[in-house]
Amino acid sequence: MSYSATFLEWEITSACNASCPQCPRNYYGGKTWHSLPIVQVDRKWAEQHLSIEFIESLTHIDFCGTYGDPIMNNNLIDIVEWLQSVNPSVYITIKTNGGIRNANWWAKLGSILNGAVYFALDGLADTNHLYRRGVNFDDVIVNARAFMAAGGTAHWAYIVFKHNQHQVEEARELAANLGFSDFNVKLTSRFFDKKHVLTDSLEVNDANPYTISIPDNSIYVNNSYQKINFVGKDYAATVTINCKFKQLKRVYLSAEGYVFPCGWLHDRMYGFEAEQHPDHERLITLFDIAGGKEMANVNHTPIDQIVHGKWFETLEASWTNDSRLHRCGMMCGEKVDIIKDQNKHIRFDS
Ligand SMILES: C[S@@+](CC[C@H](N)C(=O)[O-])C[C@H]1O[C@@H](n2cnc3c(N)ncnc32)[C@H](O)[C@@H]1O
Ligand code: SF4
Ligand code: SF4
Repeated sequence: MSYSATFLEWEITSACNASCPQCPRNYYGGKTWHSLPIVQVDRKWAEQHLSIEFIESLTHIDFCGTYGDPIMNNNLIDIVEWLQSVNPSVYITIKTNGGIRNANWWAKLGSILNGAVYFALDGLADTNHLYRRGVNFDDVIVNARAFMAAGGTAHWAYIVFKHNQHQVEEARELAANLGFSDFNVKLTSRFFDKKHVLTDSLEVNDANPYTISIPDNSIYVNNSYQKINFVGKDYAATVTINCKFKQLKRVYLSAEGYVFPCGWLHDRMYGFEAEQHPDHERLITLFDIAGGKEMANVNHTPIDQIVHGKWFETLEASWTNDSRLHRCGMMCGEKVDIIKDQNKHIRFDS
């Protein structure tokens, strides 16, 4: 089976300045997960590991990822300049909490970027930090203004919780007044407890613990919750899988060099939920079937060989045999579309 990609999601670092409670990089908003390798790549690494032909074949590069914030990478602007010199028409998006670096740095990014930055602002000055822990709302606004004033295109991405549901329309208006090009409302699908069971609220790991909860206004609740309860517990193991990322010609590259169709599989490598989940062992078994972890990592195997070789063949085969990942059934099973239900107002997102 052939797999061709025109869209690269690239995690250029696994470092982050924040600790969002539903991010796999930390323990419910507390410390960074002990086994997460903290790495950042640079232009030289990219030149060595991503071929010119591969970069030229892409129409879109999305600096997002599973465990880090791209702005933490000190080489981001250098990498963007290199990519745009190799492929001047490539469109680059950057997903960030927006809380670090100064206005000069953001102005420089705004002046060179052919693409857009998605600022994750889940609320206003009195609420954003309840989920974006460690991020100062006013700093993000200063940074976004400097970026836009220099010509950058900015989107405001807003995840709705009970604590910020009353501010959605006020934030939408502020976004328009400040010059953001778009305002995206995201209905999270991440309310699972420590036993992977759906729940309405989670306790945040803080010196003074508090809870974050699903909105009680139903227009902000992800419809997939009802559907997951309805389809039953064998759903992920038995449903027909249509790999979304293969259909969309997307591929994912992690900060430590692993290549997957999507970040949802990278998410099974480290973290409290991942390492407890049977998928963690299954993923290791899949690496073994493909000839070892090196077969999936660009530090050891060229990206074209990974995508057209044993690693992607093994993953594709797993969708119809006993080695399938629960994750694949859940995210790409034909009866529930968590991501479509999550992104009510946007095309497609991670
Ligand atoms: C690990 S983050 C990497 C990018 C960047 N650090 C950020 O947060 O935007 C990957 C994506 O997950 C999103 N995300 C974080 N917490 C979420 C939640 N509870 N529900 C849905 N998406 C979430 C982020 O907004 C981002 O789009
Ligand atoms: S900003 Fe992004 S990477 Fe950082 S903790 Fe939040 S979701 Fe995770
Ligand atoms: S979860 Fe599995 S099936 Fe879905 S996009 Fe990722 S690799 Fe493909």
